[in-house]
Amino acid sequence: MNKVITSLNQLDFSISDLEPMPAPEKVLLVKPTYFSVEYVINPHMEGNIGDVDKLAAQNEWEHLKGAYEELGLYVHVEPGQRGFPDMVFCANQSLPNITKDGKKEVIMSVMHSDQRKGEVPFIQKVYEDSSYDIVHLDHSRFTDFEGMGDALWHFKKRLIWGGYGYRSSKEVYDVISDIFDTPVIALELIDDRFYHLDTCLCILDSDTAMIYPKAFTDEGLELIRALFKNVIEASKYEAEKLFACNATCPDGKNVFIQQGCVDVNHKLKELGFKVHEFSTYEFLKSGGSVFCMKMLLW
Ligand code: ARG
Repeated sequence: MNKVITSLNQLDFSISDLEPMPAPEKVLLVKPTYFSVEYVINPHMEGNIGDVDKLAAQNEWEHLKGAYEELGLYVHVEPGQRGFPDMVFCANQSLPNITKDGKKEVIMSVMHSDQRKGEVPFIQKVYEDSSYDIVHLDHSRFTDFEGMGDALWHFKKRLIWGGYGYRSSKEVYDVISDIFDTPVIALELIDDRFYHLDTCLCILDSDTAMIYPKAFTDEGLELIRALFKNVIEASKYEAEKLFACNATCPDGKNVFIQQGCVDVNHKLKELGFKVHEFSTYEFLKSGGSVFCMKMLLW
C-alpha cells in the first residue's frame, strides 16, 4: 500500500486497516560535546549564538539518557563531531524502517542547510555497523529531506506522517512511499517557528496525537483529526516556548517532555499517559527538545 495523501477525500483506510510494525527497542543518542548555537537556521536560534551553557547541556542530556535506559531501551551513544554543533539532534539525518520480513533499511537525509550536511555520513556509519541497507535519495532531484524531523512513523503501524514546507519537500514523499511501500500522509507546515513536523505533531500511541493546530493547514488538520481518535492541543506558549509537541512516547505509555508543560501534561494524564518532565532549556536555544535529540531504531 503506497501512496501520498494530502487531503481527506483521498483517504481510503482507517488506522485499523494498516499493517502492524514492531515498536523500536533501541535509541541512538549523540553526545553534546560540540553542541552550541553557532548559526541561525531557525527562528528559535536568533539571539542565542554563543549562549549555550555546555555543562548544563551535558547534564540535561545525561538525564535523558538515563531515562531511556530506565525504560528498558538499549541506548547506543555516538560521539559528537567537532564543527557540527547540531549533530546532537540525531532525529534529523535519517529515516529508518523495518520491512514486513524484518529487513532493516534506512533513507539518509538531504539536509536543507549547508551547515548540517556533513552530519549525515557520521550517522550513516552507525547504520552500516548495524547491518541496515542504506538508501540515498537522488540529490539532483531532492534538495531537502530531514529524516525523522519531518517523517514520523505512526505508533506500531505502517504509516508515515510527512511534514513539508521548510526542511523537507513535498515531492520527496512519493519516493519514500515507494521505497518503504508505505502510505504517507503529507502535511504542509505553515509557521516557520514550527519548521519540522516533530515540533507540532507528537504521535503518542495508535489513537492519540498531540498537536499545535496553527502550524497546519485546514486540510492537514482534517487528516489528523480523521485518523486519531484523541487529539491533544497544545497552547501557543507550551508549543512554541516549551516545545511540548517535541515530546516522545517510545512505548505508547511513558511520555518524555520538556519541563513546565502544565496544560498538556494534565491532558496527557487524563488519557492515562505517564508524564516524565526533563529540562532541555539549553537545546531549546537551538530549536530542539526531547524528540529530536534521539533516534529510535530496531
Ligand atoms: N538547530 C537545529 C536545526 O535547526 C535544531 C534541530 C531540531 N530538530 C528537530 N527535529 N526539531 O536544524
